Amino acid sequence: MKEHIKHPIFEIIAKAATELNIDAYVIGGFVRDIILNRPSKDIDVVAIGSGIDLAEKVAKLIGQNTKVAVFRNYGTAMLRYQDYEIEFVGARKESYDRGSRKPIVENGTLEDDQNRRDFTINALAISLNSATYGQILDPFGGLADIEKKIIKTPLNPDITYSDDPLRMMRAIRFATQLGFEIEEKSLKAISENRQRIRIVSKERIIDELNKIILAPIPSIGFKHLFNTGLLEIIFPEMQLLHGVEFIGNKGHKDNFYHTIQVLDNICPKTDNLWLRWAAILHDIAKPATKRFEPEHGWTFHGHEDKGAQMVPKIFKNLKLPLDHKMKYVQKLVRLHLRPIALVNEIVSDSAVRRLLFDAGEDIDDLLTLCSADITSKNEEKVKRYLANFELVKQKLKEVEEKDQLRNWQPPITGELIMKTFNLKPCKEVGLIKEAIREAILEGEIANNYDEAYDYMMNKGKELNLI
Ligand code: CTP
Repeated sequence: MKEHIKHPIFEIIAKAATELNIDAYVIGGFVRDIILNRPSKDIDVVAIGSGIDLAEKVAKLIGQNTKVAVFRNYGTAMLRYQDYEIEFVGARKESYDRGSRKPIVENGTLEDDQNRRDFTINALAISLNSATYGQILDPFGGLADIEKKIIKTPLNPDITYSDDPLRMMRAIRFATQLGFEIEEKSLKAISENRQRIRIVSKERIIDELNKIILAPIPSIGFKHLFNTGLLEIIFPEMQLLHGVEFIGNKGHKDNFYHTIQVLDNICPKTDNLWLRWAAILHDIAKPATKRFEPEHGWTFHGHEDKGAQMVPKIFKNLKLPLDHKMKYVQKLVRLHLRPIALVNEIVSDSAVRRLLFDAGEDIDDLLTLCSADITSKNEEKVKRYLANFELVKQKLKEVEEKDQLRNWQPPITGELIMKTFNLKPCKEVGLIKEAIREAILEGEIANNYDEAYDYMMNKGKELNLI
């Protein structure tokens, strides 16, 4: 392990610990990530003694006016050195208050500290003590579990999850990020303890959920959330997508599995969390709009508008931001059927222009969402659809180049209309503006000032304004 702790900071911590006559270890995620070859800049150090004293000593040895942030309530301290963020804590033996995530803390040994950690792969420690410098301490077989790609708790999982129910989300998050299995016993304990997730703040839950969504294959996490019963508690609208109803021999797609497939499809094309959220929410109103029409089978008329309407409440409940990011997701949900509709009809320029106008600068993201939405068990069908979709994209590109509607600014402003016809703000101004926009979208005039100006003058005559 020595080669992984070559950076001078480790020598400095070791020297500080020797001077204080205490033992110190690097522990947790940093060690796990060394083995997994995912370099990390967050170092956790555990002291068999006071973590705060150790941090202050380290700061002194570094010099350069290094500041220590001390959190006395938690018995922890943090400092930054070069691009590392180092957190110091005294080894602890913990038991928990059942009503909250707040631990009752007592000083402990390294073993006690490793025991209270969430997973075997997160309980690995590297010694910074002179006699054993660089040795790895792995009391629960964390190294073997990394090799076997499995998430396991050091103690009975019932205790580990009940102690801190956020760990249920963390187990699923690590499994998704790393592509690991979760031990059967753990999955069972998560199912049994699922109601305890309610004592965890929504902010912590959404942090983990967003990490799942940003993983390479988020469906892994969503399947675990569904199967353990956590999804129903933390995100009930998504749970409702699950299931297939039959009338006679007519069933519909299972919209839960469809949605997570769309989400997986979009991942190689974007790291944009909000575009991934649009994939999650694109069909969210299907359960609410589902009807059976004997002539057509199952329909979900208007699910795109209803879905867009549902977005603010879902964002609010999940403590997601209610700003332009929410508006962006809402817009993509509302428009998600539009590009695909163009595949099915003979595409008129005006339909293409309208889509460009409505999507604006988000047109590329909308197209990405739309092609991810093409799922079917029949590969031939998917291929054919995607090929047709390419034609639509081509058409959009041509019209876009010609008419430049992506960043639409009306060529004639309301002010100019008022000045030309000597008007105060009134209904006629709106009428003329809208008529110009419609004429451009319908292709009657080009998207430029001169043609729009002539059109305005004619409209003014029609309305007896001159
Ligand atoms: N830990 C724990 N229980 C928690 C949170 C953290 O036991 N609910 C322990 C684990 O040993 C973990 C360490 O604290 O490795 C540091 O936690 P954190 O920084 O939150 O996570 P990392 O494991 O470092 O992973 P990531 O940075 O990906 O969140």
